[in-house]
Amino acid sequence: MDYQQLIDEVYHEVKSANPKGKVADYIPELAKVNPDHFGIALVDLEGKVYGAGDFDIPFSIQSISKVLTLTMVAHVFKDKLWSRVNVEPSGNPFNSIAQLEFEKGIPRNPFINAGALVITDALTSIHNDPLEKIHGFINEIVGRTCVQIDESVMNSEIAHSERNTALAYFLKAYGNFENDIQDVIRTYCGQCAIELCCADLARSFSFLANQGYSIFANRQILSPIDTQRINALMLTCGFYDESGEFAFRVGLPGKSGVGGGIVAVMPNKFSVAVWSPPLNAKGNSPKGVKALQLLREKLKYSLF
Ligand code: DON
Repeated sequence: MDYQQLIDEVYHEVKSANPKGKVADYIPELAKVNPDHFGIALVDLEGKVYGAGDFDIPFSIQSISKVLTLTMVAHVFKDKLWSRVNVEPSGNPFNSIAQLEFEKGIPRNPFINAGALVITDALTSIHNDPLEKIHGFINEIVGRTCVQIDESVMNSEIAHSERNTALAYFLKAYGNFENDIQDVIRTYCGQCAIELCCADLARSFSFLANQGYSIFANRQILSPIDTQRINALMLTCGFYDESGEFAFRVGLPGKSGVGGGIVAVMPNKFSVAVWSPPLNAKGNSPKGVKALQLLREKLKYSLF
């Protein structure tokens, strides 16, 4: 398979399509991004990077960071983690609070905000400077020092974190939160404000395409079974209340962020990242989904 030809074709076929969408503005700094950016990068199992369009321009990874923090705690807490957070699709928006009360403070999955806050709380329980650890970990799996935080996005989100702070208090009321709420909110906003380009994002996710082994870090990051579980969670929960739609159209484990990025994984083949800032009502990038759907359809194989 000529991957460069594949992503060039996808890039050119989708570039001029402009499905309805609007750049996220509930974090005011994110609204300043140029909506016309569009990039794709694919990384094969040998670590070779193929790029098209704006694949080397860094952007805010937002919720995509939740997969990487989950990776950092999954092998430490093992099954104990899954008593604090469930593994079911929520069918609700990513920042919903309603379900948390019905389900007594146990979030449906680690990718909705409530679940991701539990994961960042767990990370805070094992590291003195969790944000520094997250940086170090991402640099390691990308294979170079590339992580930067957009401080203005981080501060903008901290200043508008009423919903996430409410979720954290709710979790604490149910005994499912161990650390200082403001500390964890700060780390969470910091991980979301990390900027990476499509090429580095695809590199950072390549261990999930490679049974847990990172060719860039040169080590086993997760066991094959934990890797398969995280991929299962991305397939079922990675796009919130649009996870079924993404599985139906694209059929790959993936994760979106409100910065307009999406990363997806074809196990045992490649990882791929796309970026187009405008979002649909569910908080996912429709142009990114379109590109990944086309890419998948052009392949001669599928997961299923
Ligand atoms: O907590 C938030 O609302 C954002 N920092 C992240 C949300 C997000 O990226 C949802 N994904 N599509």
